[in-house]
Amino acid sequence: MKTILVTGGAGFIGCNLVRLLVDQPSVRVVNFDLLTYAASYRSIADLDGRDNYCFIRGDIRDADALARAFTEHRPTAVIHLAAESHVDRSIAGPGVFVETNVVGSYNLLEQARCYWNELDAGRREAFRLIGVSTDEVYGSLGDQGAFLESTPYDPSSPYSASKAGADHLVRAYHRTYGLPTIVTNCSNNYGPYQFPEKLIPLMIIRGLAGEPLPVYGKGENVRDWLYVSDHCQALWRVLQNGQPGRTYNIGGGQEMKNIDVVYALCDLLEAFRPAAQNAALRGKSSYRELISFVTDRPGHDFRYAIDASRIQSELGWQPEQSFTSGLQQTVRWYLDNDAWLQHILSGDYRRWIEQNYAQR
Ligand code: NAD
Ligand code: DAU
Repeated sequence: MKTILVTGGAGFIGCNLVRLLVDQPSVRVVNFDLLTYAASYRSIADLDGRDNYCFIRGDIRDADALARAFTEHRPTAVIHLAAESHVDRSIAGPGVFVETNVVGSYNLLEQARCYWNELDAGRREAFRLIGVSTDEVYGSLGDQGAFLESTPYDPSSPYSASKAGADHLVRAYHRTYGLPTIVTNCSNNYGPYQFPEKLIPLMIIRGLAGEPLPVYGKGENVRDWLYVSDHCQALWRVLQNGQPGRTYNIGGGQEMKNIDVVYALCDLLEAFRPAAQNAALRGKSSYRELISFVTDRPGHDFRYAIDASRIQSELGWQPEQSFTSGLQQTVRWYLDNDAWLQHILSGDYRRWIEQNYAQR
């Protein structure tokens, strides 16, 4: 039986990953998440009651809470996703990014090391800690090229700098203490349960509400998009077959200019809920008319592109979804899951958490 401690398992990627893991034979999942503004308990509520799953509301900045989780649940592996994840928030207030992403990751590594040191030889050998990170640590590309695992770190935002700090610690714990850690660096994810501050869900909800669609600068910045379930499958492969001390880039090879992503979303909204039938769009003949070019993000990285050949050749991973199929499924999911969205937009999700978890 594998017991996998997942940090951040109530967030966007985390809740998709936890769903994948609980369906694997002989896997038990311990979901350790603070339920910050970025998490809705509704994303994971249906997992309650499964006998191979448990949830802990805990803070990775709290070393004692992490120590208790290791002692009580004795994980065979850790997948570390808990983080402050939104670049614009890191520009407005970097402090919590350093506290969570750097200090929280240090706490996790340190508690993992104390626990791992006490394991017998077989369990020490089999133990894994995956640090889930981002392509943003590599900085910005020009028109050509792609990030390799050997690309030097050159982060631009407080978010990516804090993730870079965490990655360095994850690698240092392998080199210095022998802790079997692996770092993954993934490109932009999209799909179900993404918090509606990120580009794709934000454009969907604002479009449906007939509100302006804010595109930073000229919309020419490029991101390399990956459907979230493909990322989760990659992490599962890395956990099973990845080599300790190694780094794996993960990306879909689906580069798009932001403006083209927004056009594609407008066209899907038009197909699923035509502007002429949406009262919120009165006076507008199409969703594209809502696009509004706004002031650019400071330090906005121009282009990201991932060279994922290592994970493809060494671990046999390939993305299943194209950007076209993934985007269609995503828009459909948001249209079909209005209750999940409204729970967030109304603020009820915060009230629910405070009523059910009177903590800190
Ligand atoms: P998210 O913001 O949706 O979720 C983050 C989760 O972490 C939330 O559930 C939140 O409650 C939890 N959390 C935050 N602070 C915590 C703390 N102090 N203690 C415990 N839990 C805490 O993020 P996401 O988009 O799902 O990203 C997950 C991870 O993957 C992050 O580490 C992020 O850097 C990385 N990543 C994200 C993307 C992407 O496109 N979203 C791409 C590559 C890598
Ligand atoms: O590359 C991986 C990273 O992708 C992850 O590490 C981050 O956690 C995740 O948030 C994401 O970062 P981005 O900054 O690329 O994602 P975001 O959705 O915020 O923005 C995507 C692009 O769209 C970016 O170029 C900025 C632009 N944008 C974003 C928003 C929110 C807009 O033009 N308008 C917007 O309103």
